[in-house]
Amino acid sequence: MTADKEFKKVTTNTLQKMKAAGEKISMITAYDYSFAKLFDAAGIDIILVGDSASNVMAGHTTTLPITLDQMIYHAQSVVRARERCLVVTDLPFGSYQSNSEIALASAIRIMKESGAHTVKLEGGEEIIDSVKKIVSAGIPVMGHLGLTPQSINKFGTYVVRATEETEAEKLKKDALLLQEAGCFAIVLEKIPAALAKEVSESLHIPTIGIGAGGACDGQVLVMHDMLGINTEFKPRFLRRYLNLDEQITGAIKQYVSDIKSSDFPNENEQY
Ligand code: KIV
Repeated sequence: MTADKEFKKVTTNTLQKMKAAGEKISMITAYDYSFAKLFDAAGIDIILVGDSASNVMAGHTTTLPITLDQMIYHAQSVVRARERCLVVTDLPFGSYQSNSEIALASAIRIMKESGAHTVKLEGGEEIIDSVKKIVSAGIPVMGHLGLTPQSINKFGTYVVRATEETEAEKLKKDALLLQEAGCFAIVLEKIPAALAKEVSESLHIPTIGIGAGGACDGQVLVMHDMLGINTEFKPRFLRRYLNLDEQITGAIKQYVSDIKSSDFPNENEQY
């Protein structure tokens, strides 16, 4: 590794400088070595090993079933591919909500066993002790407010959050609490763009939006959604950059057909 490459590695400090300079932050989810290698080489700033792995990798309908061991496995694979970007790993449902000691123990396992650089937790005031405890152990924490998928059974629906004043006021208060507790950034998921703008302008740490408008300091999308692998999920905020579903299905159909017709392998594809 050259000194030059070292210099370019993204750290939590880099992100603070990017916000101060008005430079937007790019973030995407990844859960395995091969995709993480491509995303890192393409210049992404942050890879989030999201608990959305529960949906897109394991086929569950919510993020709740994924375990700490499974998150560590995904994070290890991503970290092996990383040369430049920052790797953030979600603390899964059940690994931090009960108390701050358990939260710290879970965060330490992620850091020690996967080599990820930071952890992400969902929630505001209700998890603030855990955030403080984890930060005081030297582990950087990313917050997550708005639509927090681990609370889907409380919300009952994936609609836009904080459209009512009470919830919007709580979100603004929570954002400040998370900043005071030492978070280095906060994900804002599926909230009105005007609220996300107000929150982003009120904080000195960066906000990373998903369905929260263009005024956030950065943006994140789930890789399977933006690459068109998962075509069932079509929220308004999603921009599709590829239609891999069509391309992969086409390629596999062609492969099956080539095998059936004995076209594959041909003379040049054998020894
Ligand atoms: O798990 C995840 O993919 C996330 C993003 C939606 C921010 O938390």
